[in-house]
Amino acid sequence: VLCIATALAQAFARASDDWDHSHFFTWSPPGPGDVRAPCPMLNTLANHGFLPHNGQNITEFDTINALYTALNVNQTLGEFLFKAALTTNPTPNATTFSLDNLSRHNILEHDASLSRGDFFFGDDHTFNQTIFDQTRSYWTAPVVDVQMAANARLARVHTSNATNPTFTLTTTGREFSFGESAAYILVLGDRVTGTVTRSWVEYLFEHERLPLQLGWQRRREIISTSDLVTLLERVANDTVGGFSEADVKISARDFHAGI
Ligand code: HEM
Ligand code: MG
Repeated sequence: VLCIATALAQAFARASDDWDHSHFFTWSPPGPGDVRAPCPMLNTLANHGFLPHNGQNITEFDTINALYTALNVNQTLGEFLFKAALTTNPTPNATTFSLDNLSRHNILEHDASLSRGDFFFGDDHTFNQTIFDQTRSYWTAPVVDVQMAANARLARVHTSNATNPTFTLTTTGREFSFGESAAYILVLGDRVTGTVTRSWVEYLFEHERLPLQLGWQRRREIISTSDLVTLLERVANDTVGGFSEADVKISARDFHAGI
């Protein structure tokens, strides 16, 4: 009886698991009519087909399933990110989002990105090699750690603040900005040591493709919101000026602008 119960339980587990490895082995760049995001990871998931390749009308199920299947992100964090994404769809009461909705400025998209220009300069969503070269110049060893990630992010904040007369980081923008630096360590690297292989991160940004050929594999441990928050705080703590670094700058600028 125990044997049959175990076999049934295993069969059920297989049947109810939406695990589909096949998209790891497929990849194609966006074609005509396909839309993409300011997010290197969502673009990557669309290029592989974990998300709809056209980048459009992405449902909650699509999002949770893609993040879990490709990256081992848990359902709660998947739901949270989907709900955040939905706020960028300009259609009232929408139940889906498209990757290009995410480029709307100062909803989720923010200034001082690691690989994209500021909205003020005209394109806040296309990969920009010059900007990314500044970022990766702070990744000074083959294994990137939290301190290097914090330095890279802060350099981008300083550059944007010095060059963009409309420079802004809202509270949400700042949280997401720290979260994004944490995310590439968490999803590609080791959450305990806070380190990640530099070439894997560069490959993700530059090719918008999972760095499988370089030896990366889906993380074995499931990724939760608290994992992200813990790592986000580590990046903030290793940032000169800490979490409030941008507040200081914004208030200084607002003061000069007479706001
Ligand atoms: C950037 C949304 C999942 C990594 C962004 C941006 C948005 C976004 C709006 C642009 C922010 C900006 O730089 O202005 C989302 C949503 C997700 C998601 C809605 C899930 C539904 C992920 C995951 C990762 C990730 C799982 C894991 C590595 C990044 C990174 C950036 C970014 C590293 C920074 C890009 C840069 O600064 O140039 N994301 N993202 N994202 N995202 Fe995602
Ligand atoms: Mg941006």
